[in-house]
Amino acid sequence: MADWTRDLAGKRTLVTGATRGIGEAIAEAFSRFGAKVAITGRKPESLDPVAARLSGEGGEILPIACHNGRAEDREALFQKIQSEWGGLDVIVNNAATNPIMAPLAETSLEAWEKIQNTNVTGPLNLIQKFVPGMAEQGSGSIVNIASVAGLEPAPGLGAYSVSKAALLMLTKVLARELGGKGIRCNAIAPGLIETKFSEALFQSKFHYDHFIQNVPLGRHGQPEELVEAVCYLASETSSYMTGQVLVIDGGSRV
Ligand SMILES: NC(=O)c1ccc[n+]([C@@H]2O[C@H](COP(=O)([O-])OP(=O)(O)OC[C@H]3O[C@@H](n4cnc5c(N)ncnc54)[C@H](OP(=O)(O)O)[C@@H]3O)[C@@H](O)[C@H]2O)c1
Repeated sequence: MADWTRDLAGKRTLVTGATRGIGEAIAEAFSRFGAKVAITGRKPESLDPVAARLSGEGGEILPIACHNGRAEDREALFQKIQSEWGGLDVIVNNAATNPIMAPLAETSLEAWEKIQNTNVTGPLNLIQKFVPGMAEQGSGSIVNIASVAGLEPAPGLGAYSVSKAALLMLTKVLARELGGKGIRCNAIAPGLIETKFSEALFQSKFHYDHFIQNVPLGRHGQPEELVEAVCYLASETSSYMTGQVLVIDGGSRV
């Protein structure tokens, strides 16, 4: 493993959706490498055990209950981080939702808006809040956790697929607009990773086998297999990289 301690120690980081899965693995790595880590999830009862575990391992953890789709929660998160740390060096927009499986033409506007609010508007608005501070300090790294479903159409997951495509274009537009201020913006596009989010696919052998037969590495991934790529994008190790998408999917798009 690379010496991320050198790159991430003391960085003020935010990882949204860090109560489990990919976000928890990222928060754990950041903390292990000496970063200060603000973690979010919707409920304190889910956040607190993660915060206790990581704090117990010596990390500086700031748990903040924040529903990504609620403007008032995002503003409270911003105020809390400003008052504790005075700003951020790294934002990892990881929290996302996908409450429905339905053809896009039959997706209710209520579900559509919930997905876009949480997966696109939330990340954008958090970035908007912290960018002035990053611009003032002349540095910042934003890492958006998208999906291969944002690169290729995912029938049955249309609203989610569109939200991740939007997140990828948001990443590229921001890279163009913020590069001159010293702020970089990149994305990760994971394939199938074993978490609660993807458990439905694991419960159907037929669908799982169908999916995996298109993966050259012949298996799904684990959250830990994304973590070092996020460390790379978050840190100065990737100082000449912005607007890029790292696809980590076992090769399924080759
Ligand atoms: N797993 C995969 O196969 C896969 C593939 C490609 C991309 N991704 C992406 O990876 C990211 C993480 O997914 P995961 O697989 O780790 O999922 P997960 O295990 O279900 O974790 C999702 C996290 O997001 C939080 N969250 C959910 N809705 C939220 C909201 N409205 N506001 C704030 N936090 C919210 C959850 O916390 P609470 O429930 O405690 O609020 C939880 O911490 C997502 O962006 C997902 O789209 C996953």
